[in-house]
Amino acid sequence: MKPIQIADGVYDVGVIDWNIRDFHGYSTYRGSTYNAFLIIDEKIALIDTVKAPFADQLISNISQIIDPAKIDVVISNHTEMDHSGSLPKLMQVVGANKPLYCSKMGAKNLAAHFPDAWDYHPVKDGEELSLGKRTLAFIETRMIHWPDSMFTYLKEDHILFSSDGFGQHYAGCEEFDDQAGEEAMVQAKKYYANILLLYAPRILKLIEKVVASGIQIDTICPDHGIVWRKEPGKIIDAYLRWSRQETEEKAVVVYDTMWKSTETMAYAIADGIAATGVMVKPIHIRSSHRSEIMTDVLDAAAVVVGSPTLNNQMFPTVADVLTYMKGLKPIGRIGGVFGSYGWSGEAVKLVAAELEAMNFQMIDGGPRLLYVPGEEGIAACKAYGKQIGEAVKARQG
Ligand code: FEO
Repeated sequence: MKPIQIADGVYDVGVIDWNIRDFHGYSTYRGSTYNAFLIIDEKIALIDTVKAPFADQLISNISQIIDPAKIDVVISNHTEMDHSGSLPKLMQVVGANKPLYCSKMGAKNLAAHFPDAWDYHPVKDGEELSLGKRTLAFIETRMIHWPDSMFTYLKEDHILFSSDGFGQHYAGCEEFDDQAGEEAMVQAKKYYANILLLYAPRILKLIEKVVASGIQIDTICPDHGIVWRKEPGKIIDAYLRWSRQETEEKAVVVYDTMWKSTETMAYAIADGIAATGVMVKPIHIRSSHRSEIMTDVLDAAAVVVGSPTLNNQMFPTVADVLTYMKGLKPIGRIGGVFGSYGWSGEAVKLVAAELEAMNFQMIDGGPRLLYVPGEEGIAACKAYGKQIGEAVKARQG
């Protein structure tokens, strides 16, 4: 299915990973792609490679356009091995003496991954490289998604090669946003929520700087998923919104349950929230992957977490989600807690401490009910849900 022409002399020679379902803890139920880009000019450049098991496929894809030995310049926008894993095999074919352009941190990080003595050319932010008729400009983008990350901009064609930025874990026959439809944005949101959210302040500054510079961006070529050629502005606007952590009039009620008591409470709280007109989604942790939960947290104004007490602790799956969420640093959310217990009942307090550690604006009085919720308990849950819904409306309004 690849290579695919992006523009005159510009090709995606990457690969499709149809069957990957877990990407270091992120559920990739739509698979993924590792895109790599070949630019044919007086000098021939390759931007990024693919995961190591796909190295032969990458070389075969390049060979359909040119002899890989004719590549003059290799550019590594990002060291993570889904983009650098094929470098050893590729450099053998291209020629180990060919220049390898990357950021300063990229040179350091690549050397920490691969023992090969490649001819590193570390570049600075704004540095340019002429390919003959066309010019590449390098833009430092630290922490999108590693300290070594950079973008490469093809000036004459207004194409931004954005590495992990603006990407999605999405495997399809489609190459472009106008072919993939809304699913591209669905997967881009999930990608941002699970890979980039913790760097939101940095991403916001970077995008604002790029927008302010006035550079024309007609096409965005990420290293994962589809290429944005129809509406690159749509994904840039979404990144600005997500990086500002803008939320909607929406709450999530995330819970686990042992004997359905905490689940009964979750639904009663959700009913209370819904009664205020706020959108609400109850999410049973063992029915939804943590990366799906995080995608819903991205635009939720309130995050309400319920846990039964097990062995004096919060339920282990709840701890998993909270640890994951804390690392991704959602900020400014309204927080709520609840849970059923049998005798000791520490979970609610422990969960509240985790949400407080994330600086959530906590709604006090989260219900903590003994064994099975009765009428009074259900009413307390509904009332708590209403309080949360009203807090969401006050904040969003
Ligand atoms: Fe797609 Fe940070 O690697």
